[in-house]
Amino acid sequence: MDRQKEQADALLSRELQFDDDFTPFPKTKTKARHTYKFILVESIAILSIILNIIAAVDYFAPKNVSFRDVPTDYSGLPHDQPVVYDWESPFGPGNQNSTLQDEVWEAMTIGQGIISLPKDWAKAKGLHPSATFPWDHSRAVYLVAGYHKLHCIKKIRRWIVATERGSQRTDHYEHVLHCLDGIRQAILCEGDDTPLYLSEVGDKISGRDEPRQCRDWSKLDRWAKENTACYGYDNEAADDSGGIKHYKYCPRDSPYAPVMREYFGLPDDYYEEPVEEVPSY
Ligand SMILES: *[C@@H]1O[C@H](CO)[C@@H](O)[C@H](O)[C@H]1NC(C)=O
Repeated sequence: MDRQKEQADALLSRELQFDDDFTPFPKTKTKARHTYKFILVESIAILSIILNIIAAVDYFAPKNVSFRDVPTDYSGLPHDQPVVYDWESPFGPGNQNSTLQDEVWEAMTIGQGIISLPKDWAKAKGLHPSATFPWDHSRAVYLVAGYHKLHCIKKIRRWIVATERGSQRTDHYEHVLHCLDGIRQAILCEGDDTPLYLSEVGDKISGRDEPRQCRDWSKLDRWAKENTACYGYDNEAADDSGGIKHYKYCPRDSPYAPVMREYFGLPDDYYEEPVEEVPSY
């Protein structure tokens, strides 16, 4: 019996010992509480890191100016290309090598801007009737306006540069003035409303590195080439743009190449790369 009492006392003391250790929350429950807290804090921290990364990516990413735009009626291109304004492009005075500057300007060829479009399609689009394409009479020849503008600013630049250098001016004065007026009208027509920032200090500069929404010129170029009129200038500076001799530059795989070759009496594999040369200036 004594032994039984001893055992009972021992148990009781153990229980008491346990009671001494008593905390309002049982050990296992405390652990669970800590785990929930930890998960909560950890989740908030991870969420915060993710939000910070998103904010940083957004902050450093090139800004997409918000825009609403509809694709054009003709090539179907929208203004969907963020491009920063390049203050020091190789076409400008930042390019100190004037030979190289001339080269990049003259490398902008214009001939591919003369295209042929189905007459029916052009009529449905409300386009003015245009000259018949010599190699397919169901099509008419058009000059894509963007290429006309490039052609014009090339003329204007050549005039200015040749005047500055005191060298031979290769373009016609009246044509240069016509081009200048054409650009003026194009600027008014476009009504570009991009707000260009101004620097706070020093020489006022505007718009450097500022993003704008542009059409993708390479896609316009592709569209023009898909609708080729096989056209090439011999001398883009001279105002000789008429005559069937300009239409013999069909791409090798062009459906119009056989008709063109037959007209000029050229061999079946004839192909000539259009080269737009201008006299040195
Ligand atoms: C200028 O550019 C031309 C044409 O690319 C090149 O041949 C010439 O070496 C360049 N000159 C200098 C000084 O870099």
